[in-house]
Order: sequence, then structure tokens, then C-alpha cells
Amino acid sequence: PHDAKWKIWSEKDVKRTMKKRGSNSHKGTFGTGLLVAGTDEMPGSAMLAGLGAMKIGIGKLVIATTPYAASIIATRLPEATYLHDGLNKLAVGTFPDGIRAMAIGPGLTDEKLIDQVLENVWEKEIPLVIDAGALGKREFAPRKAPIIITPHPGEFSRLTGLSVKEIEANRLEISSQFALQKNVIVVLKGANTVIAFPNGTGFINRTGNAALAKGGSGDTLTGMILGLICSESDITSAIANAVYLHGLCADELVKEQNERSIVAGNITNVLGRVMNRLI
Ligand code: APR
Ligand code: MG
Repeated sequence: PHDAKWKIWSEKDVKRTMKKRGSNSHKGTFGTGLLVAGTDEMPGSAMLAGLGAMKIGIGKLVIATTPYAASIIATRLPEATYLHDGLNKLAVGTFPDGIRAMAIGPGLTDEKLIDQVLENVWEKEIPLVIDAGALGKREFAPRKAPIIITPHPGEFSRLTGLSVKEIEANRLEISSQFALQKNVIVVLKGANTVIAFPNGTGFINRTGNAALAKGGSGDTLTGMILGLICSESDITSAIANAVYLHGLCADELVKEQNERSIVAGNITNVLGRVMNRLI
């Protein structure tokens, strides 16, 4: 990038910022995350995000989803716990204890309930990741804890009112402007994902490939971001590392499989392998 405020997030940065877990650590060290995701029609979104969060090292994960989705997810992710009908419960003000960070959106469609949940959690001092179905046009009222939005260009077009073409031609400028204006962290996805911070700085990610151009890879990323925000102390590097590792997993997968055949569920299968090389 030409602008000094923008930097390419590199392998060196990952190695510098991600540390081995302390030998005296316990699950409480790495935090409890709340993932609000999944419906009966889209149970996989919550499963993929859940796998992302747990396999990147979160301490504990609570998944707020439907009982049907929970029963499916629990077979592949028995490590998580569930808040049955979580969207409804959170909408009326129920909130589990001890949550360090929250992500909302994958596989969700009920805008009214989502808005109620967001209103209820707005005052809570925990970082909030907003993705997919929760990325409706909204005010982004001032909030004490960070807001991270993870739109693909189509979703960012809806948020900004700009066309996808305009966004794609000015990814850095537009995401940076939005971050500044709304005081949110913008993860604008797609090849060369950009991460724009409200202070005008940002990162560009170079990992990843077209194997990720498939349903569910964004849900996986949302979970990975939640997982690192919970388990790492610096939110800036946590977000950048999640984006970097997500792409690096895809780069690892294409060594062995055709990019057409790779599915989102494969990403977290190689996450441990790629992290072992870096951390
Ligand atoms: N190169 C590198 N990375 C890519 C590429 C590519 N060519 N194509 C996609 N990716 C990455 C993106 O950067 C992002 O991290 O894959 C992920 C895709 O995320 P989404 O577009 O959110 O896709 P998806 O998981 O299918 O979303 C599921 O949420 O966004 C809504 O409408 C979407 O309902 C759908 C659901
Ligand atoms: Mg998505």
C-alpha cells in the first residue's frame, strides 16, 4: 500500500503477536464466547463458526441457537454448550454469565429479533462481532466496547449505500472512512481482505484463495475472530491473526485438494497444522 497507515499483515506479525499458551493456563484464561447463530434451515452456519472459535483456542463456547440446530451441532462439536432458542431468550434480555466476547449473525434471518438482541447487548462491555444476517443498516450508536463488522462486498454495499463496483474499486478508502465515521472495526472480506480501524490505520491480508469462494467460509471466519478476541489480549492483532490464519488454512488445503472440492468445514481441519508452524 502507498499509505503508511496501511500495512500488509505478515507471517512475521503473526509470529510476533501469537504466543504459546502458558503451562499454568486453564479454560478461564481463554475466555467464554457467545455465538448467536444458526436456524433450523441453516444449522451449519453455527457449526462452522463454532468449530472456528473452538479450534483457534477459545476457552469455552456458548452457542445460542435453535434446539434442532443444537442437536445437530453437538454431534460434531460436543465441546460447546447451548442456549436453546437463544435468539428469543437474548431478545427478552436473558444473558449468560461470564461472557468475554460475542458474535452474532451467521445463519440468522429474523431482523426484528436480531435488532432486539443488539439493543440489549449494546451497553454490555464486551467486544461484539456482527456478521451476515445481523448486518442490517443501523446507527452504530456509540458503545464502550469495540464493534467488529465482517461484511462481504454485497453486505457492505447495503450498509453504505454504495455499489459493489464502487466498493471493490476503493476497498481501503471506503472501509477506512466507514470505520472512522461509525467508530467500528471493518473487516471487508473478499480476496485481499482489509481490516480498517477507527483511528485511520488498517491491515491488508494476503492469504487465502478461491477455495474460500464457497458457502460457509465466512461463517468459519466469524467464529475464528470470536475465538481469538476471547483468547488473546490485543484485539487488533487478534482480528488480523484470525483473518490471516483463515486464509492460510485455505492455502494449505489447496496443496492437497483441488480448490473446487474444498468445503468450509475443511478449513478448521488444518488450522492446528498451520498454527504449529507459526506458534
Ligand atoms: N480469495 C480469498 N478469499 C476469499 C475468496 C477469494 N477468491 N473468496 C472468498 N473468500 C473469503 C472471504 O474473504 C471471506 O472470508 O471467504 C469468506 C467468504 O465469506 P462470505 O462471503 O461471508 O461467505 P459465506 O460464508 O458463504 O456467508 C454465509 O452469510 O454473508 C452471508 O450471504 C451470506 O448467507 C450467506 C452467509
Ligand atoms: Mg457470510
